[in-house]
Parts: sequence; structure tokens; C-alpha cells
Amino acid sequence: MQIKKITSLVLAAALSISLAACGNSQTTAVTSGQDNQQAESTQTADSSEAKDPESAQAENKTEDQQAETAGKNESSAGNNILILYFSADNTKDVDAVSSATPMTDGTSSVEWIANIIHDNVGGELIPIIPSEEYPLEYEALADYAKKERDDGGRPAFENLSIDPAGYDVVFIGYPIWWYEMPMIMDTLFDTYDFSGVTIVPFNTHAGSGDGGTYSDIKELEPNATVLEGLAVPGEDAGKDSAKEAVLLWLQGLDLE
Ligand SMILES: Cc1cc2nc3c(=O)[nH]c(=O)nc-3n(C[C@H](O)[C@H](O)[C@H](O)COP(=O)(O)O)c2cc1C
Repeated sequence: MQIKKITSLVLAAALSISLAACGNSQTTAVTSGQDNQQAESTQTADSSEAKDPESAQAENKTEDQQAETAGKNESSAGNNILILYFSADNTKDVDAVSSATPMTDGTSSVEWIANIIHDNVGGELIPIIPSEEYPLEYEALADYAKKERDDGGRPAFENLSIDPAGYDVVFIGYPIWWYEMPMIMDTLFDTYDFSGVTIVPFNTHAGSGDGGTYSDIKELEPNATVLEGLAVPGEDAGKDSAKEAVLLWLQGLDLE
């Protein structure tokens, strides 16, 4: 793998632009840690919320998004890169705006980071879309997610049909919910075998850092190589300082 070439060229350029744009920015709090089957999407959901049947339009958006990125998943350095990310407002409703996300345009903090990664290393960018939509009001989402965690839920996703073995590097992004990964990430790791793949986790949080999730991923995927992750305070999403931190982290990844 030759991501170093990406980091030395694309990232250096992006970083210098970012630094020039925010010379007095603060360093965003970043924590790091260490940490791959084929299957076709859907598993068991533990939620009783009714699935929203509409939104062919949004599904089309996802298909369009995948089509748009298809053929572009190989980086200039020859790596096959996949960027998977989950956020509660990865819904089929393209207009969903979550009160649990700090971005005024409705972009979730995790999505914001995923886009920066995609813009700088290329690859295929795929949101993990839950089969049953999450409540997007904060308190309701907190209660819903807590029950899901307490029940050991394995909420289904519906749009994934990937072959992890077809990728060299898989970035995996998620928010911290109740001190750990959302349960849908467990569904992901139950569904797919990332053996032999390099996983690069990233997350957003409100104080818990990575919450030990990189170690959790390592346990769930013992035959994967799990690299240093990035934890960004969700409230920093959209800030130049946070973008700079993401670019520095990408530049520092020792993938080859
Ligand atoms: C259900 C829920 C539980 C959360 N639990 C934690 C937590 O345990 N620790 C923490 O630091 N932040 C927690 N947060 C804050 C989120 O990690 C943070 O807002 C994150 O940026 C959300 O990502 P998003 O913008 O992509 O939705 C929680 C948020 C929600 C909605």
C-alpha cells in the first residue's frame, strides 16, 4: 500500500491551504488508539419502530452517491479505499436535520470528517443507512440508543453490499453513543469479515474521546490491522482547527 504518496502530495497541499486559512487556530482535541466476509446487508433489528416505507428518492441518492464514487475508489497511489460512516441522520430522508448534530446545514459531524477524508484520499464513500430511522431529537435519540445498547441490539442497515477483501484500507466512522460505538457498528462487524484489511477508525464525541472503541474494533476484527484512530469533539465540526487536525492525522497515518 502506498498511501504515503497521497499523504506527501495531496495532504501536504491540503494542509498548507488549511494552515494558511487558520493560522491562529487551536489544535482540536484528538485522541488515538490502535485498532475485517462478505454478506449482503440486512440483519436483525431490535427496534419496534415502523420502517419508513417512502423515500425511494433518498435511496436513489445513495445509489447515485455510490455510482458517483464507483470507479473512483482507487486512490492515485493504487490503494483501494473505502470510507464507511454512520450517523443517526444517515436516513433515507435527504432533508433530515438532527438536533443531535452541531452542523447548521444538517451535516453530521461524522459525515463532515468522512467528507474531508474522501476529498483528500479519494476512494469510495458510503454512509451506513439504518433500516429503521432513528429519532433525530436529542433526548428521544438518547433514550432510543440507550435501550438499543441495553438490549444488545443489532440494528439492521440496508444499503451495504461490500466485499471488504476488495479494499486495502477501510476508514470507519461513527459517533460515540453511551460511551461506545452505536450498536449498528456491531452489526457491521458481525456481518463483514475485515481480515487482512487495514481499518482506520474515526469518531466524534462530546467528551469521551474514542471511548476505547479502537480496542473494541480490534477485538471484533482480530485479523484486521487497526491503525491509529481519530477522535474529534463533535462541536468542533466545521471549524478550521478540526479540519487541520484531520489533515494532520491523515498525513501521519503510516499506511504502506
Ligand atoms: C444517543 C447519544 C449518546 C451519546 N453518548 C455520548 C457519550 O457517551 N460520550 C460522548 O462523549 N458523547 C456522546 N454523545 C455525543 C455525540 O457523540 C456527539 O454529539 C457526536 O458529535 C454526534 O455525531 P453526529 O454529529 O455525527 O451525529 C452522544 C450523543 C447521542 C445522540
